[in-house]
Amino acid sequence: MTKICCIGAGYVGGPTMAMIAHKCPNIDVHVVDINQSRIDAWNSDVLPIYEPGLQEIVNAARGHNLRFSTQVDQGIHDADIIFISVNTPTKTFGVGAGRAANLEFIEKCARRIAESSKGHKIVVEKSTLPVRTAEAVKRILAESTNGATFDVLSNPEFLAEGTAIEDLLEPDRVLIGGESPAAIQTLVDVYANWVDRKRILTTNLWSSELSKLTANAFLAQRVSSINAISALCEATEANVDEVAAAIGTDSRIGPKFLKASVGFGGSCFQKDILNLVYLCEHFGLQEIADYWEQVIKMNDHQKARFTRNMVKTMFNTVSSKRLAIWGFAFKKDTNDTRESAAIYVCRDLLRENAVLNIYDPKVSDEQIRHDLREAMSNDSGELNSVDRRLIEENVHVVSSKQAAASGAHAIAVLTEWDEFRESDFATIYKSMQKPAFLFDGRNVLDHQALKAMGFEVHAIGKKI
Ligand code: UDX
Ligand code: UDX
Repeated sequence: MTKICCIGAGYVGGPTMAMIAHKCPNIDVHVVDINQSRIDAWNSDVLPIYEPGLQEIVNAARGHNLRFSTQVDQGIHDADIIFISVNTPTKTFGVGAGRAANLEFIEKCARRIAESSKGHKIVVEKSTLPVRTAEAVKRILAESTNGATFDVLSNPEFLAEGTAIEDLLEPDRVLIGGESPAAIQTLVDVYANWVDRKRILTTNLWSSELSKLTANAFLAQRVSSINAISALCEATEANVDEVAAAIGTDSRIGPKFLKASVGFGGSCFQKDILNLVYLCEHFGLQEIADYWEQVIKMNDHQKARFTRNMVKTMFNTVSSKRLAIWGFAFKKDTNDTRESAAIYVCRDLLRENAVLNIYDPKVSDEQIRHDLREAMSNDSGELNSVDRRLIEENVHVVSSKQAAASGAHAIAVLTEWDEFRESDFATIYKSMQKPAFLFDGRNVLDHQALKAMGFEVHAIGKKI
């Protein structure tokens, strides 16, 4: 029986391994993590991450061929194939701070694999990594004192949160980069248990590593491009949704990823582009670095523009005004808030002295306050007393969208949760201060109907 170990039980490692276990009953899958409470959650009925369909798949495989534990060394020792799926955050210190990926955890994993392995192992990079990281991983593994031998493969994950299970079930492609044809074939055979072989692409190691960064950079670039056009739409009375629909019918452009928004978030887009920018600079390609950095600058501009527009619309002051924030996750159907536009919009509104009633169906009070504290801290991680007080006194995390809106001057929709579209707006309108403003940062509501009810509606890239 083939044995797989995955180091890192996060948003990528957890669902990916659950799918492999579910689709390959003849493969034993052991997911290990240094974080005990995360592992306890994976072993409970309340998984550490929210993903539609995940609980069912975990329930079906857990206790059979899927196991979660903190026994990292044992997991490595027993496995034929070891996936590294630990986090690679943007460096906050030293050379490349704010841009380069922090590869500390990857290196620690490689050293631990070198120490705990015997015989031959295939090591698979699942985490998104800068090009040529495999070089370092290979060198560390080569120092193994137990006589173990290794093949290193790159197998980046393209799943998107909220649709992880669908994406894993029917991926557009599976990408496997490597040097040893036999090792590549071993991993191809795992995926071929449920993925059409025509969709399994094999490349050299470096192409695979770079393809992941490039895919995310292109996707983020589309969002920044349509968001840039949204500002022009607002100035010209064009409608960005109409423009997106019109250009999306061109088969060369395609309809996806053209939804104007308050800005993209998530753990990948910003981190991967910063990484790409750093790589370009490292190789002396300053013009290329500047080109990609603009995608991030546009996204920052879009978030700031949204907040400024809210303040300007509400008579240039939101001080002491109660504002309902609908949605805090970076997109719908996930409890993940990493780099969510909501964090930055809320931070800027708090600094205008606004009082925020925040509601998100899946994000906890603790997480929201943690994210705001982090966003309001200085580079040394210190929070000044004014910002601390703002978070303590002006942030109210509430348990329903109605409670958030009650008595508020405005609603700002920052995540496109389905339940927001299906609201009883007539009742909500009555419960609000007048004029009742509605800022749709996701363009998901029926703007004309809301306007007819009495709301003053502001959306992205269109005049209502
Ligand atoms: C991570 C990377 O951030 C991303 O670049 C990559 O594409 C996939 O893996 P994600 O799964 O979302 O993404 O990260 P996260 O949810 O933070 O999970 C990483 C897990 O690794 C955490 O549970 C952490 O405890 C664990 N970890 C980290 C280890 O087990 N060992 C370590 O040394 C470091
Ligand atoms: C992304 C990639 O899609 C995935 O392939 C990769 O493996 C990880 O990074 P994810 O970050 O989970 O996945 O979500 P995604 O659906 O790409 O959305 C990213 C952000 O862009 C979200 O904040 C989303 O709301 C925003 N977005 C997306 C838009 O604002 N407009 C769009 O048209 C699409």
